[in-house]
Amino acid sequence: MKVIPSLLAADFAHLASEIQAIEHAGVDMLHIDVMDGHFVPNISMGPIVIEAVRPLTKSHLDVHLMIEQPEDYIQSFVEAGADSISVHQEACPHLHRVIQQIKAQGIKAGVALNPGTPIHTLKHVLHQIDFILIMTVNPGFGGQSFIEAMTDKIAEAREVIQMAGLTIPIEVDGGIKADTIGRCRDAGAEWFVAGSSVFGAPDRERAVQTLMDTGKRH
Ligand code: DX5
Ligand code: ZN
Repeated sequence: MKVIPSLLAADFAHLASEIQAIEHAGVDMLHIDVMDGHFVPNISMGPIVIEAVRPLTKSHLDVHLMIEQPEDYIQSFVEAGADSISVHQEACPHLHRVIQQIKAQGIKAGVALNPGTPIHTLKHVLHQIDFILIMTVNPGFGGQSFIEAMTDKIAEAREVIQMAGLTIPIEVDGGIKADTIGRCRDAGAEWFVAGSSVFGAPDRERAVQTLMDTGKRH
């Protein structure tokens, strides 16, 4: 299992020390939330922030695009230093083509699903993708409450992946904290994005450790 801190909740004036603190706890993957004010109501960061973070860390930079027409920006994010990019199924009428576009850049491709979007929408692209990102809140903001119904969805995704004979990790994102991580792990998730439960804690290193320990007990 992996705990993947989301920089959205970090102190932007001190990104370097924020990253250092979580890496002390054994983190090797960072989640970067990109929002455009159209696909989601909020606006966050773009390629220049990733470019600034890239020289600060060797960790895998996992870029979550909550934007319309992500196909127009894949190259900019790759050039900025992304190691994986996930696009939303709901934002991509030509999903198959966008995944191909990401893979052609030599990085990992994921597809994210909003809470209301069923797993079966990924049936015909499952063999193409490197991970599935199941949103456990409606995307757009950090600090929201975990949507309970998503545990069944995670279990369903795990089953569909197994039936297809694949071993794609399931990433979960939104409301992941000590009291929700275990349920997601039991249901079959392996990658846990955590924003406010890490960067909202006074001791970031300890917060990561708590999530890892709690998840591992399941
Ligand atoms: C929500 C973002 C999340 C967010 C999670 O739209 O995709 O990655 O940072 O924040 P928490 O962990 O606070 O719910
Ligand atoms: Zn995210």
